[in-house]
Amino acid sequence: MIPYERLKPLLFKLQPETAHHVVETLLRTANVCPSAFNHWTSKHFVTHELLAQELFGRSFLNPVGLAAGFDKNATMIRGMQALGFGFTEIGTVTPKPQAGNPKPRMFRHIEEETIQNAMGFNNDGMLKVQKRLKERYPFTTPIGVNIGKNKLTSDADAINDYTTLIKALHHLGDYIVINISSPNTPGLRDLQNETFITNLFEASKALTEKPILLKIAPDMEAQQAVDLTSLAVEKGADGIIATNTTIDYSLVKHPKDIGGLSGAVLKDKSFELFDAVAAELYGKTVLISAGGIDSAEEAYRRIKAGASLVQIFTALIFKGPELIRDINTGLIKLLQDDGYSNITEAIGSDRS
Ligand SMILES: Cc1cc2nc3c(=O)[nH]c(=O)nc-3n(C[C@H](O)[C@H](O)[C@H](O)COP(=O)(O)O)c2cc1C
Repeated sequence: MIPYERLKPLLFKLQPETAHHVVETLLRTANVCPSAFNHWTSKHFVTHELLAQELFGRSFLNPVGLAAGFDKNATMIRGMQALGFGFTEIGTVTPKPQAGNPKPRMFRHIEEETIQNAMGFNNDGMLKVQKRLKERYPFTTPIGVNIGKNKLTSDADAINDYTTLIKALHHLGDYIVINISSPNTPGLRDLQNETFITNLFEASKALTEKPILLKIAPDMEAQQAVDLTSLAVEKGADGIIATNTTIDYSLVKHPKDIGGLSGAVLKDKSFELFDAVAAELYGKTVLISAGGIDSAEEAYRRIKAGASLVQIFTALIFKGPELIRDINTGLIKLLQDDGYSNITEAIGSDRS
């Protein structure tokens, strides 16, 4: 077993997307040879009565999940459990397969522990993903299914893409996420408006009993985010994920002129928007925080601000799967130090 600190310099010699494919190939072997990953699971996957909670009708053994975009095609669900994640959000999946934006479209800002990506929903499409989920679902760790519209679908037809995806995939995941917050599909973020949200949730909720969450961008005024997410909840949204990547390029020294930034530079921006939304919606819906989370302390800050769950993408690339274990063991310690007997008591404790 190679520790990540030895693997990382090799991966970082490769183009980011090539490195991602190498990791995917490695993790996919967990599908054909799960027992080979038992050692990894025992090394990384933390379970403890303090961390376990019931949400969306499922047991979440720990609150640290994989954010969308890493396992776009549902090929690594077993592998993610072996890396220690308590749940995995696959996608973004679109109805038809699509190639995404031209390469290169993923960049590292190494000193800033930040990734800039302009992938553009490259994915195998709903039918292939459906086939893979049929082989895996239900799984020991909950699965979220993140859905988005195809690039060539006009905004006027966008609802149709989302309802098509829900019909095809809702029975194959524990929750669904409506993604209208990626900066890499032209016009997508414009769908973060009242009319679309109203029509979308009215149409979607009629199709499934499964929880449907909305994922929002960090590049909104706090009040706009509060208004939009409150409306979504009023129209039936079962949760909010804040946030996706940012297009505030002033956060890095040498930005590319495409895509969104994730990782360390997103941390405070993402927290601030999450906090504003939580101030209104904590206790009324399930809140999930993503964006720059890279330590137990940061995860705990989000939990105390109202997050039932947290998600990680970029810090996994910079720090490796040991981080997921360390966040979970760190959370146990923080919860114990504060005298809690379960994570649910800490969720939102900074709000009162
Ligand atoms: C390369 C890359 C691809 C991503 N693709 C998606 C995606 O397909 N759908 C989505 O909702 N979010 C996507 N995201 C955003 C992440 O899910 C997450 O919201 C964001 O990166 C902030 O978390 P982080 O700072 O831990 O990376 C992507 C992020 C990265 C870095």
